[in-house]
Amino acid sequence: MKRIGVLTSGGDAPGMNAAIRSVVRSASAHKLEVYGIFRGYSGLINEELKPLDRRSVSNIINRGGTILKTARCPEFFSEDGQKRAVETLKKYEIDGLVILGGNGTYHGGMALARKWGVPCIGVPCTIDNDINGTDETIGADSAVNTAMEAIDKIRDTATSMERIFVVEVMGRDSGYICLQVALGSGAEEALIPEGQFDFHSMCHEIVEGNIRGKISWIIIVAEGVGSAGDIAGRITAMTDLETRVVVLGHVQRGGSPSARDRILASRLGSEAVNLLVQGHAGKAVGVTSDNLNEVDLETAVSKKEFKTAGLYRLLKLLT
Ligand code: F6P
Repeated sequence: MKRIGVLTSGGDAPGMNAAIRSVVRSASAHKLEVYGIFRGYSGLINEELKPLDRRSVSNIINRGGTILKTARCPEFFSEDGQKRAVETLKKYEIDGLVILGGNGTYHGGMALARKWGVPCIGVPCTIDNDINGTDETIGADSAVNTAMEAIDKIRDTATSMERIFVVEVMGRDSGYICLQVALGSGAEEALIPEGQFDFHSMCHEIVEGNIRGKISWIIIVAEGVGSAGDIAGRITAMTDLETRVVVLGHVQRGGSPSARDRILASRLGSEAVNLLVQGHAGKAVGVTSDNLNEVDLETAVSKKEFKTAGLYRLLKLLT
């Protein structure tokens, strides 16, 4: 193996740049050349790539987003799209790929590895923490901290004006951010796609609390459960109390990565290069119980079990 490619695909996650830096510098230590591919798989299809050396990844470890840009690329899931991507790899003599992203990115890697024989190693980068084979994905810790800091500020006004706030956080299918943020910010409730919560009991508790003089509430809702606006409307309808709504949205995907994400990205980017050098293909790297780990991409994308019951009970115990 003489030359590898690195790309970021799907939703960006804080720590992607730290992972790119680690891939490029670890590859250089193995005397490998690296091409950075822009805009994920669409950069492979449209030949948007350029060589990266050690210096080209200076001063990016602390930066959010991705210097390689990222995109979701439906075209890549067609036969023609994949063929064009493979032709680019051949033309530039790229022998293997490190793919940084989440579920969609890994599905792309599976197609390249299994159907077209391109060695691909996945590095889990998504704020949703919904990839198997790793305790944590790159970006999740930063996103939780960003949301928590915002909610700390919301708490100031919620307490002062004695109001109910419904705060929507990201997570279409995963309640990870929602539950972590609820625990970290001392919120009263977390409405997560995995269930656990009981909407009617919550409204009952709000009314009971109101009678006792507890007026301020912070309710965190994962976007997969429904819009914060709709949920706030239902709460008002059931309790006759005023609510305010905050949608944190893409704020959660931006900003400087936390120390934990930078370190995770540095470890996993380097390990991905090690696996390519050792001749592996179609694998995803991760860290479990602080040890480096690898699983097949197929395992990595299978439904991750996020254990919510204990954390949810704790949340309710502490409110
Ligand atoms: O996968 C990461 C994520 O931020 C999800 O939490 C969210 O549902 C989705 O991406 C939003 O995607 P987009 O930025 O394409 O709207």
